[in-house]
This record gives sequence, structure tokens and C-alpha cells, in this order.
Amino acid sequence: MNFSDLVRHRYSCRSYRAEQVEEEKLQQVLEAARLAPTAANRQPFQLVVIHTAGRQAELKRLYPQEWFSQAPLVIGICALPSGAWVRRDGKNYAQVDAAIAMDHLILAAADLGLGTCWVAAFDPQAAREILRLPDGVEPVAFTPLGYPADQAKPKNRKPLAEIVRYEHL
Ligand SMILES: Cc1cc2nc3c(=O)[nH]c(=O)nc-3n(C[C@H](O)[C@H](O)[C@H](O)COP(=O)(O)O)c2cc1C
Repeated sequence: MNFSDLVRHRYSCRSYRAEQVEEEKLQQVLEAARLAPTAANRQPFQLVVIHTAGRQAELKRLYPQEWFSQAPLVIGICALPSGAWVRRDGKNYAQVDAAIAMDHLILAAADLGLGTCWVAAFDPQAAREILRLPDGVEPVAFTPLGYPADQAKPKNRKPLAEIVRYEHL
């Protein structure tokens, strides 16, 4: 798929088949996250790969929607603010870096025919407990990773005219 087709094709998948994700495809999506750009190349993030088999009850504490633990895998991304680049005004870029890496991952997944759905509305305390995250490791987002059992819906986006301002200096 070329890039324009890929960004049109990717959608938030909320129904998954039980079929396993091939190890090679898992490694490809993780590699796409690894190659993402980060501020000052600090790479202040960690990925957590969770096999959902037998862990549905725990995962429901993290995010209760049925489809979340329906896929064979859930991938979490955590920010490590202590290792991140910090702007002069104190803004820490760990969360931005983690978001970019997650976006690389979900686009790579779509390219391989796999479904994903960004999940930010998880319970952060449950995530800390279930994944035994130490202080300083901040869960940012999760996504199921598996073969879709649904189909893309038409994209509903603001027109460019509403989101772009051309500044003529
Ligand atoms: C940062 C972020 C957080 C999101 N959190 C959730 C979530 O917690 N639950 C959910 O069902 N979808 C979540 N989504 C998916 C959005 O609802 C979805 O991307 C948006 O409606 C556009 O639809 P599309 O991804 O199918 O193009 C999130 C997306 C982003 C980018």
C-alpha cells in the first residue's frame, strides 16, 4: 500500500478475530515504533506486549470494552519522562514521543492487514498494577492488535480550510 492509501485505509478497529498474529508481523510493528522519531533522539518510551489469552478479566479492569481483549495481543506504550528531552520552558516531550511511536506502530499494523484502536480512556491505576509499572513509567496508550472482524467506516474529518492557517510573514 502506498502511504496515501495507508492513511485512508487505517481505522479504529473495534471487533477482532481470534486468529493469532504471526510473530514476524508483531516484530514488524514493534520495529516501526522503534524507528519513530523522538525529540533529541532520546527514545523515552517502552512498549509492553500482552498476550490476552487467559488475561481477559485483568484487561477488562484496564479497559472494560469487550473488543479490547478480543484480539490475541494488546500493546501498551509507556512514556519515560526522566529520559526525555525538555524544552527551555520546562515542557517534557515524553508523551509526544510515545504518541508518535504508537502512531508508527498502528500504521505499520494497518499496512500488514492488522487492526488496532488507540485507547487512552484506560484506568491508569489498573494499568500500573496489572503491568507492575514502577514510578516514572507512565502508561500513555494501549491498542489491541489482531485481525479485524469489522470494516472501516467513512472518515469524518474537518476540512483542511478549518484546520490550516497560512501565515504570510
Ligand atoms: C489519543 C487517542 C485516544 C483515543 N482513545 C480512544 C479510546 O479510549 N477508546 C476508543 O474506543 N477509541 C479511542 N480513540 C480512537 C478515536 O475515537 C478514533 O481515532 C477517531 O474517532 C477517528 O476514527 P478512526 O481512527 O477510525 O479514523 C483514540 C484515538 C486517539 C488518537
